[in-house]
Amino acid sequence: MNVPNHDILIVGGGGAGLRAAIAAVELDPNLSVGLVSKVYPMRSHTVSAEGGSAAVIRDDDSFDGHAFDTIKGSDFLADQDVVEVFVEEARDELIQLEHWGCPWSRDDDGRISVRAFGGMSVKRTLYAADKTGFHMLHALFQTSLKYDRIHRYDEWFGTRLLLDDNGAACGVAAINVRSGAMEAIPAKAVIICTGGGGRIFPFTTNAAIKTGDGMSMAYRAGCPLKDMEFVQYHPTGLPGTGILMTEASRGEGGYLINNKGDRYLSEYLPDKMELGPRDMVSRAFVHEERAGRVFSGPYGTYVHLDLRHLGEKKIDERIPFVRELTKNYVGIDPVYEPVPVRPVVHYMMGGIHTDITTATPIPGLYAAGETACVTMNGANRLGSNSLSELLVFGARAGQYAAEYAAEVNSPSYDSLEKMAADEWQRIENAFFKNEGSERIADIRTDLQKTMEQGAGIYREQESLEATCAELPKLKERYARVQVDDSSSVFNTELTAALELGSLLDVAETVAHSALLRRESRGSHSRMDYEERDDENFLCHSLAYRTDDAPRIEYQDVVITRWQPQERTY
Ligand code: FUM
Repeated sequence: MNVPNHDILIVGGGGAGLRAAIAAVELDPNLSVGLVSKVYPMRSHTVSAEGGSAAVIRDDDSFDGHAFDTIKGSDFLADQDVVEVFVEEARDELIQLEHWGCPWSRDDDGRISVRAFGGMSVKRTLYAADKTGFHMLHALFQTSLKYDRIHRYDEWFGTRLLLDDNGAACGVAAINVRSGAMEAIPAKAVIICTGGGGRIFPFTTNAAIKTGDGMSMAYRAGCPLKDMEFVQYHPTGLPGTGILMTEASRGEGGYLINNKGDRYLSEYLPDKMELGPRDMVSRAFVHEERAGRVFSGPYGTYVHLDLRHLGEKKIDERIPFVRELTKNYVGIDPVYEPVPVRPVVHYMMGGIHTDITTATPIPGLYAAGETACVTMNGANRLGSNSLSELLVFGARAGQYAAEYAAEVNSPSYDSLEKMAADEWQRIENAFFKNEGSERIADIRTDLQKTMEQGAGIYREQESLEATCAELPKLKERYARVQVDDSSSVFNTELTAALELGSLLDVAETVAHSALLRRESRGSHSRMDYEERDDENFLCHSLAYRTDDAPRIEYQDVVITRWQPQERTY
């Protein structure tokens, strides 16, 4: 295949990737932008986002208010300069998205509606019923179609970041999943927007595609992964499936009820109740479980999300998807019955280390969206900030990468072709030529089990050490995985084998960063170090890949105007 030489190559076709592509071609219509996506872009995980996207659009709100809520929600680990930029740019992004076709829900007076979300002190979450991600992704995708300088590589799996002799990013080696061919796609700059890696855990809202491939790609190329110990549990997942029961259902007035019939959050978050931040609401579930005040079912313990008092009209208008999902997946109509829910892995606050411009330490490499850690979420993200984040920092990535690309020469295709051939050789040797008999699914299941045991909602030294000791064993087993399907076209077994490699990389950064953070902060709750320790840990972790366990270094948090204080709600 004759692969064009692009100015910018974006890996990941979800919200952040599409926003980056549009920003780049809007800045310079002559740029050539490649967009590689493992799945057709409308199948990216952004499509499943439900509850909304936060921005300051009302008179009772302020940038400072949004910034402070975000920083407090982050347990003071967010970089405050990044948060300030975020809150200021989010509003224009969301309004622009309406001009691109996103149908925000509206009040009777015609204004765009805003709803309450956890940890936010005022209503500031814009929404399109409870299918916000679907509509946002549609608006972005359709807008991207206007630009013929955006060249899409749908169903291509990027497996390796290509670096030139100076260590700068110069393209990606990717498999065309439809044909099985490995190609080098050259570019002056690369932006990674591949989402998170929640699939390192067994029970997650994350789509099967969320295997941390972009994080792993950057990590293998020498880029550190930042703040990986911070994994968010969303309080309300549907047992058995992991399907998200959106926080909007509590924003619209839903209750969480234990097996005594009590709204148990009155004991933990009396002022916020169901609209506390996710880390605290999820921990409250564990306490209820320990006290025996939860229900038991075939898929574990749960509490009830009670929406009945909202009434059919409001449910159908504001959260129709919740009704659709519960009817289809558990045969429950929330108009008449409470819905079983339990905490579920939802989001990674950590990711590829970037600065405020989305640049990574590797020249020419940028990252945005959940795969990146631009450091606005710190130790706990507030619900509805991530859709706005992917717009703000997706746009920034497109703009800064375009500026960088204007200053450098195109890489030579010949040298890249050799790198891609080497990459294919690696894959062939690893999966088609070894004599091993390990199965992908067995290793993945064991990985998910050890991550949940060691690095779940609550953590401690002993269980984290056990997980850290288990991971190299899983990697050894991974070296003995054999892929039986030797066909070229849509070889999904090979895809799964490659994804497992990404999961193992991501998992080791989570477990080791968590082991060394001897404090409790946000989503990282250590039973053996219950307090936050600003003296020693008001800093970001940076996990670097080595031949052994990751090396963890630290970097100071940027504080501008809000000194850390006790985080109470
Ligand atoms: O519950 C939700 O709708 C999730 C929103 C988010 O993670 O931002």
